[in-house]
Amino acid sequence: VRQVLSGITPSGVPTLGNYLGALRSWIWLQRAVSNSARENGVLSLDASPLSEEDARRALESYDQDIAEVAANQGDLSFAARAQKTDGHSLFMIADLHAMTVPKNMENLRQKSFELVASYLACGLDPKQAVLFQQSRVAAHSEFAWIMQCYTSVGRLNRMTQFKEKAGKRSENATAGLYTYPSLMAADILLYNPTHVPVGDDQMQHLEFTRDMADRFNDRANLELFRPPDAIYQESGAARIMSLRDGNKKMSKSDPNEGSRILLTDSADDIARKIKKAVTDTAGAISRADRKNDRPAVFNLLTISAALRGTDLRDELIAYDGRMCSELKNDLTELLVDVICPIGDEVHRLLDDRDVIYKVLDDGADRAAEIASITMKDVHQVMGLTPFS
Ligand code: TYM
Repeated sequence: VRQVLSGITPSGVPTLGNYLGALRSWIWLQRAVSNSARENGVLSLDASPLSEEDARRALESYDQDIAEVAANQGDLSFAARAQKTDGHSLFMIADLHAMTVPKNMENLRQKSFELVASYLACGLDPKQAVLFQQSRVAAHSEFAWIMQCYTSVGRLNRMTQFKEKAGKRSENATAGLYTYPSLMAADILLYNPTHVPVGDDQMQHLEFTRDMADRFNDRANLELFRPPDAIYQESGAARIMSLRDGNKKMSKSDPNEGSRILLTDSADDIARKIKKAVTDTAGAISRADRKNDRPAVFNLLTISAALRGTDLRDELIAYDGRMCSELKNDLTELLVDVICPIGDEVHRLLDDRDVIYKVLDDGADRAAEIASITMKDVHQVMGLTPFS
């Protein structure tokens, strides 16, 4: 893992699904990337400065292939990009994505603000990672346009998320919702990450991004982008389900508030929501139960396993012969222990706005710097360079 990028759409306070499926893994990834950058002598944001020897080693060993291609082309920006982009983790507030659904535009500013506070409260550290607001780096919109001109309508028609989000009256959905995957591919390739940690609902978008990387590379006839790998959580945490329907994903935008736990929920909210969470009429939990037969109960077991850091199998054994109400009681306690301190910190940060402004100003500068290196190459490959 040399470079990581991910993001959340500020369509509401992050849910337990966002936390277990994505955010939580970002915390250790930011450390891993910054440690490995230091070991490999790659420049990173980490406060401790590199020795001259480290910097020299970095330049020598750094992505030989790319450096060679760049040298052959007489354009050093390819090498400069690999050297500058690696060693960074970038976590984005995907506010341009929020705009694809008109309802999300209400209080967008406030929702973006709450999302940064949630990033910080969960442990993302601006000293180790770049935290930034997508709309403040204009290259996202620009590259998304170029990406759209490389995307066929047929390819977009195969994307399932449009069908899910647009619903039956898809002619009323925005054009932005339709071309959303192009924006997401642009978000990712702008920073050339090796890995993208996401929940499994983003899998199709990641495949799309990898295809786009290949297409650009073919067009450029060199390795302009490396197709990034997804990182998914194990034990089902990559897909946490609604508390009201074990067959539906837990989502920020579900009209039923009882369907999700938010990172800002109080202990009472959590207790109430878990108490009302649907289960089934099959009685006590058994180690022989199967997920397809008891999706709602398995969802609670999955959440429990993810919070404890155990396996779903261990959880089934631990609750063998016990009632769902016991599982719910234990789960409430676990959730209160993990979620409430995060919520308290979010509220504290929301009263300390200057800290957040500073994080976003710095993040926008850092992200724009990296993005501009990529855009320079994209312009060149596309024939969009000035004449003089
Ligand atoms: P979003 O805001 O829908 O979700 C943010 C992250 O949370 C994961 N996630 C879940 N994981 C497990 N269980 C769930 N119920 C659950 N719900 C959401 C998502 O998979 C995601 O990882 N398009 C993206 C944001 C985005 C992005 C990017 C991500 C924009 N550009 C570039 C990665 C790279 C989105 O709307 O995520």
